[in-house]
Amino acid sequence: MRKPIVAGNWKMNKTVAEAIDLAESIKRDLAACQKVDVVLCPPFTALSAVGNVISGTQIDLGAQNMHWEKSGAYTGEISPEMLRDLFCHYVILGHSERRQYFGETDEIVNRKAKTALALNLHPIVCVGETLEERKAGRTNEVVEKQVRGSLADFGARGWLESIIAYEPVWAIGTGLTASPAQAQEVHALIRSVLQDISDEHVAKSVRIQYGGSVKPGNAAELFGQPDIDGGLIGGAALDASSFIDIVLAAQETA
Ligand code: 13P
Repeated sequence: MRKPIVAGNWKMNKTVAEAIDLAESIKRDLAACQKVDVVLCPPFTALSAVGNVISGTQIDLGAQNMHWEKSGAYTGEISPEMLRDLFCHYVILGHSERRQYFGETDEIVNRKAKTALALNLHPIVCVGETLEERKAGRTNEVVEKQVRGSLADFGARGWLESIIAYEPVWAIGTGLTASPAQAQEVHALIRSVLQDISDEHVAKSVRIQYGGSVKPGNAAELFGQPDIDGGLIGGAALDASSFIDIVLAAQETA
């Protein structure tokens, strides 16, 4: 039985004061949440403050990106060691916004994920097709290529420590959600690719989140699918009560 994991990706939103407020509100309801892994991913500037708010609770801290090197002359970048220093346990890698606007390729994502694993950070590796690719019937091909490239050569321990997030690009921030059946189909495909690159145990154990316009109203049905193990939440994670309701929906399936 895989434990659901719900992560809030706050993207480039919230000042430190706003982030503290949001984390405090979420903490009031979810501090002791046991059945679902709850992760907050504020921007870098608020990691420390949010980490302080959730310290000693069941809620974990995650970052939204990192560099592939542990340290060095990379002006403006943040290293995985710095994230560990702030008690981050997770890091989102290869989000479609990073692939689209910052040129991240599967090779870069793979390099980052391997460094994250070496430093005991759980990578949340994002994959997903664009609307054009879906319309052209290329969804499976695109997602398979991303999974093979981004998650190459992790080794069994590395795969088991990783989370995959399937986020169809056309569903992100658009209000369009993949139907539960559409999402389930791709999640099952991802599991079959995992089986091919690793083994059955890994394929059955790795948690695969769905992301893309998840809201309190559609979360239960999505999370009820056999291969969907929670969600990566954008817009709805910026509102405490919406995020809490989404976590509670995941709890129902646990
Ligand atoms: P939305 O929930 O705003 O569609 O964003 C999803 C996402 O990109 C999470 O990483």
